[in-house]
Amino acid sequence: MNPRRDRSAWLHGPDARCQDPPPRFPGRRFVLLGAPGIGKGTQAALLSAAFGACHLSTGDLFRAALHGDGDRLSPAMRDALARMRRGELVPDVTVLDLVRERVECLRCRGGFLLDGFPRTVPQATALDRMLSDEELGLDAVLSYELPEEAIVARIGGRRTCPACKSVYHVELRPPRTAGRCDACGGELVLRDDDQPAAVHVRQAAHAANTAPLLDYYGRRDLLVSVDADGSPEVVFDRTLAALCARVR
Ligand code: AP5
Repeated sequence: MNPRRDRSAWLHGPDARCQDPPPRFPGRRFVLLGAPGIGKGTQAALLSAAFGACHLSTGDLFRAALHGDGDRLSPAMRDALARMRRGELVPDVTVLDLVRERVECLRCRGGFLLDGFPRTVPQATALDRMLSDEELGLDAVLSYELPEEAIVARIGGRRTCPACKSVYHVELRPPRTAGRCDACGGELVLRDDDQPAAVHVRQAAHAANTAPLLDYYGRRDLLVSVDADGSPEVVFDRTLAALCARVR
């Protein structure tokens, strides 16, 4: 498996340079869909290790700003972070400005795994335009599915590393040392938007804004549905099987 790719340019903007050498082989380009907490980030890390494609999460991008230098935040970013804490979606215009600034990451030869973007139909149409301007296409849109009770249990036990963005679960995927990140030793934290009130707002925002993307990508014959029940490894194997079945 490939080590996790450096995501500096995605997390910190076009002035930051990724340290990894350019990949030798052209990579795959996937979008990951699914309700908040279903395990998209966990699968993206496994897929990134397997395919070498970069994990481009808009949530991680906002959290990188949250843990950065607060004095340098633009008014739009301050507004975005306040909305994120409450579990609301960030306005399309802010999200699209940030993604357009990082168009280089979409062009990356290693490919990408978009996680948390697009989240609305206007974001999906804007992504289509950005990709067609670059003469690029998507290989597939992976849609993870699981009943809401199981998703809420996953979110309740989630702990994340603010430094390297690794994700754990206190019972289902614990770190080797309680409260410490296996990858970098950082202190694990509960995300602000994992508080019960914000979780409810996020699930409702997903149902209203993101669920219509299933139709959007279904009509373009890109949608690959994956049952997200079972351990991360089981779901990962199911994802690979679904992708293989698609290319056959
Ligand atoms: P974002 O970070 O994208 O959050 P999300 O979609 O709510 O997804 P999560 O990160 O909560 O969950 P996940 O599906 O990645 O699950 P994970 O792998 O961590 O966005 C955060 C916020 O930013 C949004 O609410 C919004 O405000 C804003 N935002 C971002 N993008 C935006 C956009 N495009 N437009 C507008 N606003 C935007 O897994 C969850 C837990 O379960 C973990 O503890 C994990 O260890 C565990 N787990 C995972 N898989 C399994 C498994 N198979 N079995 C058991 N446990 C598992």
